[in-house]
Amino acid sequence: MRAAVLRAPGEPLAIEDVALDAPGPGEVLVRIEAAGVCHSDLHYMTGDLPAKLPIVVGHEGAGIVEALGPGAGERVAVGDRVALLWRPRCGECDACVRGNPVLCRYGRVFAQTNGLFDGTTRLSSSDGSERIHHLMGVSCFAERVVVSETSVALVPDGVPPEVAAIAACAVITGVGAVLNAVESPGGRPLGILGAGGVGLAAVMGAHLAGAEPIIAIDLDPAKLELARRFGATHAIDAGNEDVLARVQELTGEGVPWMIDAVGAPATMQQAVACLAPEGVLVAIGLSRADATFPVPINELVQRQKRIVGSLYGSSNPRIDLPRIFALYLAGRLPLDELIGTRRPLAEVNEAYAELRQGAAGRGILIP
Ligand SMILES: NC(=O)c1ccc[n+]([C@@H]2O[C@H](COP(=O)([O-])OP(=O)(O)OC[C@H]3O[C@@H](n4cnc5c(N)ncnc54)[C@H](O)[C@@H]3O)[C@@H](O)[C@H]2O)c1
Ligand SMILES: [Zn+2]
Ligand SMILES: [Zn+2]
Repeated sequence: MRAAVLRAPGEPLAIEDVALDAPGPGEVLVRIEAAGVCHSDLHYMTGDLPAKLPIVVGHEGAGIVEALGPGAGERVAVGDRVALLWRPRCGECDACVRGNPVLCRYGRVFAQTNGLFDGTTRLSSSDGSERIHHLMGVSCFAERVVVSETSVALVPDGVPPEVAAIAACAVITGVGAVLNAVESPGGRPLGILGAGGVGLAAVMGAHLAGAEPIIAIDLDPAKLELARRFGATHAIDAGNEDVLARVQELTGEGVPWMIDAVGAPATMQQAVACLAPEGVLVAIGLSRADATFPVPINELVQRQKRIVGSLYGSSNPRIDLPRIFALYLAGRLPLDELIGTRRPLAEVNEAYAELRQGAAGRGILIP
């Protein structure tokens, strides 16, 4: 089958013929129908985040179950439509038992081995001479994947594959950050830095939750236009306007909740500065593995500001993804409008060039 393989950071992805082993115990084979162009893959492509190479990238995907490994089939059957979850769920570790599977201890196994649960891979070069690794237990820039059955979630009828794919990363991350990490956003100001796929999903979540005003901030006017369409009441063009001055003009003493969906030290600092006393920055954006940002100590203490991280929308995907699908089917989350350019898998490098140039909407790859 064909897949997009990262062989060295900084190099374009290579579309290669790779071999995929049959699903092992507790695993399923899924034919990919659509995969989303998320910025997180780009962090691996540039080397900002480390991974074992070669690796098939892509972690935002959806498809159809084609085969079950031994013992699999408790939750899905052949022919079911599924979305892929990029955090493991062992069900037994403290985080899983507490109901916070996004912090499952097997996350470390996925990250350190770039394999599946047992640390081994099901991918290899077509001549069998080298093993190829998995990204986040998913690797969906490919015609097919083998994943743990715990990495799939059922997709209801009426949800198209593109929507199912983006729901399982950009949307659950952005909407989830608002619904799960922000306390009672209704009727209170919410600022969102970054209007890429994740930030726009956060805008939709803010609209759904009744935040007021909803202030979207980006460098790109086309993205800000989309943010307005999804419910932003105000848009700040960070390239041409003084973000802090505009936020203070709109809110007086600042915003009680800021979401950073960029991941740059400069935007994180800006977000902290925009907070009202007792305000909270919910940090979603990722950065280089060694990136840090300075926090003014006295501002933190004297204004009792807080900074919290939010991984995967601080969600419990098995519970929150069905909620997102239900809201989409009820017309409350216009996820079709979040979708940008659709391309064949072979154009994956063009899709990432477009992401870097700032194309509005989530790009989709169709294997
Ligand atoms: N926490 C999580 O679980 C999680 C999940 C998915 C993605 N992410 C991360 O979230 C970030 C966003 O992902 P995405 O796919 O939406 O990326 P994207 O590239 O589509 O969007 C990033 C946006 O930030 C804007 N931007 C860049 N610099 C800016 C600045 N100085 N001020 C204002 N806006 C600026 C860009 O114009 C762009 O619209 C990435 O770092 C990604 O890795 C985190
Ligand atoms: Zn993602
Ligand atoms: Zn676990």
